[in-house]
Amino acid sequence: MTQNSTPKPFVEVLSGRKLPIPPIWMMRQAGRYLPEYRAVRQKAGGFLDLCFNPEFAAEVTLQPIRRFGFDAAIIFSDILVIPHALGRSVRFEVGEGPRLDPLDSPDKISTLSKTADFSKLEPVYEALRRVRSELDPKIALIGFCGAPWTVATYMVAGQGTPDQGPARMLAYRHPDAFAKIIDAIVDSSIQYLLGQLKAGADVLQIFDTWAGVLPPREFERWSVEPTRRIVAGVRAKAPGTKIIGFPRGAGALLPHFVERTGVDGVSIDWAAEPALIQERVQSRVAVQGNLDPLVLIAGGTALDRAVDDVLENYAGGRLIFNLGHGIQPETPIAHVEQMLKRVRAYKS
Ligand code: CP3
Repeated sequence: MTQNSTPKPFVEVLSGRKLPIPPIWMMRQAGRYLPEYRAVRQKAGGFLDLCFNPEFAAEVTLQPIRRFGFDAAIIFSDILVIPHALGRSVRFEVGEGPRLDPLDSPDKISTLSKTADFSKLEPVYEALRRVRSELDPKIALIGFCGAPWTVATYMVAGQGTPDQGPARMLAYRHPDAFAKIIDAIVDSSIQYLLGQLKAGADVLQIFDTWAGVLPPREFERWSVEPTRRIVAGVRAKAPGTKIIGFPRGAGALLPHFVERTGVDGVSIDWAAEPALIQERVQSRVAVQGNLDPLVLIAGGTALDRAVDDVLENYAGGRLIFNLGHGIQPETPIAHVEQMLKRVRAYKS
């Protein structure tokens, strides 16, 4: 069988099949909870130096696959490479997170470039090619970008904030200027995702980590609509591409998000309500989630019970087992092993 015709359980679930044992991977599976990641991270220098070093980025992408045998690898990069390619200054301060030059007034926004310099993203494509050539054909490779709303929140504030107040305020006061940021991200993300597909990504995921801070009207305009445009823009050039959305915290607006954007699957956070998800989301698309990352730190019987809850709630339909958000650095590796064992022993 050639690589493309080898069935990948992860892709099958997104294509409409329910599998007896759900495929599994973890958001942020390459990261600081792994000693082998910390070793490469130290050699690489800064965080962006790691993202843009194809050899190192490919290596850390493959580390969790070797250790745990997950069903999907996600390319090691970050959502903030798009502002970087748009010419914004992006830095990562150790222990503090991202720092950008704030784009917090219509005047500053008028200087924003509409087109990205994609040569800056070439190392990500090279890392994808390397990973795909080394990866078992049964394992899917995920390419990704941030959703325009979430990427814009960091571009506007210049850093993470508890509730993304600066971006919400700018969007109320100067919606036309804010729309220029969103449009630049939509256009460059479409090109970037198409580049990732060409380099070997099998599936794409769009991370909207901050969708949940928006009221419904703003959610429609700044989360749903830009995501819909990215999905349509990618499929116009690459029909049939499987795409997963993650509007974190969307709650009761999730069925609407799924209907309007046309995604094939959604990541759900741990606060999701099972009946709503089963009846109005899982009936249409695959669901990915939703173990609380904190219970993975806690371990023990609390972890077993939480794993069983995810399986009982969602394994009757199309499920990709995952966390409800990224794994945290203090998570013991033994707890990840405990979770995997329990999921793989699942009998429906
Ligand atoms: O999932 C994976 O293993 C792939 C790699 C990945 C990273 N970031 C690596 C990373 C992915 C998919 C992301 C996405 C991302 N980046 C999101 C959306 C998903 C989410 O988790 O909410 C967001 C909001 C960002 C922006 C970002 N990058 C922040 C806020 C931070 C600092 C917080 C932190 O965890 O330190 C980062 C840094 C970052 N991105 C790290 C990793 C492994 C940690 C930095 C390090 O190793 O020094």
